[in-house]
Amino acid sequence: MNADLLITGIAQLATATDARPKFGAQMSEVSVIENAAMAIAGDRFVWTGLAADWQGMASRTIDLGGHAVVPGLVDPHTHAVWAGDRLHDFDARTSGVSYEHILASGGGIWSTIRATMAASDTELVSLAEHRIWALIRSGATLVEVKSGYGFTVAGELRMLEAIHVLASRLPIRIVPTLLVHIPPGDARERETYLDQVRSELIPEAARCRLAQAVDIFVEKEAWSAGDAESVLSCARDHNLRIKMHAEQFHSVGGLELALRLKALSVDHLEACQPHQYGLFRNGPTIATILPGVSLHLGIPKAPGRELIDSGAAVAVGTDLNPGSSPLFSISTALGLAVRLNGLTAREALVAGTLNAGHALGLADAGRIAPGAQADFAVLESRDWRDLVYSMGTNPVREVWCKGSRIVSLDQNTDTKAPEGHEHE
Ligand code: NIG
Ligand code: FE
Repeated sequence: MNADLLITGIAQLATATDARPKFGAQMSEVSVIENAAMAIAGDRFVWTGLAADWQGMASRTIDLGGHAVVPGLVDPHTHAVWAGDRLHDFDARTSGVSYEHILASGGGIWSTIRATMAASDTELVSLAEHRIWALIRSGATLVEVKSGYGFTVAGELRMLEAIHVLASRLPIRIVPTLLVHIPPGDARERETYLDQVRSELIPEAARCRLAQAVDIFVEKEAWSAGDAESVLSCARDHNLRIKMHAEQFHSVGGLELALRLKALSVDHLEACQPHQYGLFRNGPTIATILPGVSLHLGIPKAPGRELIDSGAAVAVGTDLNPGSSPLFSISTALGLAVRLNGLTAREALVAGTLNAGHALGLADAGRIAPGAQADFAVLESRDWRDLVYSMGTNPVREVWCKGSRIVSLDQNTDTKAPEGHEHE
């Protein structure tokens, strides 16, 4: 076998083993190979195994000198494009005012909508670019980014265009989602906006290929399950995938609807009740939990352990946003899922790779295996479990995407590798 690059000196290579064999469950095993090697040709892995078993020819070899390697992490839920900050809210909340009260009084998400719409396109892209580089340094090689602070058809399309520009500037894969976030307070305006979403926004986003999925926030202070059904059916009619923010504060029918519509994922689930845990079993929908929200807002933790034990496939995301989760690290999100939501380290690795890929409809993402895109993170430690163990320091040392090193924290620099850089 011929390869462009052989990577040796891998103390442990940990990866979810295969695409979820059937729907449901954190079933995919994590395999850990000690003293491993990986061979890469172009942007793909062509061989992985015990270093001693490699018998091919490689144009080039890199010896990592004894570090753990995991697949490139997948962040399946971010709102990385925004302007302004929510420090005022943070002060109010830490003095006892609730997130929902701030939202209902015209602050919270509303203040971010105002700041985002006042910012220039260039500013929006540049702010988001820095945030996504922070996610990349934490090990991410695939990141979903939502609109949702646009609030008008034009504003949402502008956000999706900013995401499109980001995707062309960043070395990793960016998956754009159109988020129908919060409705106008006035009932008539609400109906008008809903009509515009269905007749203009979704068709235009689909026509210009600006979104792969449509997401909607189903909550007392946001959209009802009935609203969501009409929006998501329209998304389906335009061949877009569907997702939902549901059961964050209250259970108002979102989860059941999302499962009935076979959404890619239902995200949040902090208010998910015991009778709902088993509903994911044998279905295609991923339960995405966002532990940064429970930590930052002090709301209940999503029942990750219980969901897995009831047959759900759980993914973890940062939910990076200024209001409910200013969390710029996917590896920290995984460490929090272990501590707050009761996942084991192995379950967290599956949740942050393979299952997160499924939550984006990308069954091939998040694995180190022949044929898969050569995306991986090299850890500081020899033991892969350090990914979810160390806190307050970055466990990630290098990030590779499509067979090229894009981050080397050893030198403390972000390197956008020139074309073919690692293959010369
Ligand atoms: O996922 N819950 C709704 N939307 C976001 C928060 C957005 C914000 O507070 O700005 C979330 O938590
Ligand atoms: Fe969110």
